[in-house]
Amino acid sequence: MNFEINKAVGAGLGALLFTFMLGLFTEALYSQPAMKKPGYDLPGASAEGHGAAEAKAAEPAVPLPVLLAKADPAKGKDDAKPCTACHDFSKGGAAKVGPPLYGVVGRPKASIAGFNYSDGMKAKGGDWSYDELDHFIASPKTDISGTKMAFAGEKDAAKRAAIIAYLRSLSDNPLPLPAAK
Ligand code: HEC
Repeated sequence: MNFEINKAVGAGLGALLFTFMLGLFTEALYSQPAMKKPGYDLPGASAEGHGAAEAKAAEPAVPLPVLLAKADPAKGKDDAKPCTACHDFSKGGAAKVGPPLYGVVGRPKASIAGFNYSDGMKAKGGDWSYDELDHFIASPKTDISGTKMAFAGEKDAAKRAAIIAYLRSLSDNPLPLPAAK
């Protein structure tokens, strides 16, 4: 009887010892070198990756007046090449697919007599401001719904500024540039 108990206790202690040793062993196996800083390293949250993502998200768009101040009209003439498929830029130029653009900065919208503007363009009203030109050239279809201007849009803000600086130069009396705040 006693012998049986001893055997059972012995087995129990043995098992306990075994688990203990196993614990030490696995701990040694999986222990990490001391962490440099507290907390967990989450995937994609390395100092570098995080910084880059943040810089991208937080990079403020350069305001149009600032871009216009350093825009080169001569470069804008180059960037405006795709526009020439549909627009004449010369003084007294005639309508092509689109209305002539000489003097368009500050000109009332949809104001070329005889040009068949879309209803969306006619309904817009007001004179073409620098901001409005920027938005329209960036994405004609989303800016003026129903526009007839079949142009995908110039997505590069600096190129748009150059184009607008060029448009501004197409005038006997160019409007002042907007103040860069
Ligand atoms: C595929 C032909 C086409 C291209 C390319 C094109 N346009 Fe136009 N554009 C038009 C048409 C058509 C209209 C008239 C839109 C309407 O009535 O909705 C127009 C209208 C405009 C107007 C308004 C003019 C006014 O009298 O109110 C501006 C400004 C303008 N375009 C600028 C540009 C610029 C800048 C580019 C190049 C970045 C460009 N367009 C490229 C066809 C084009």
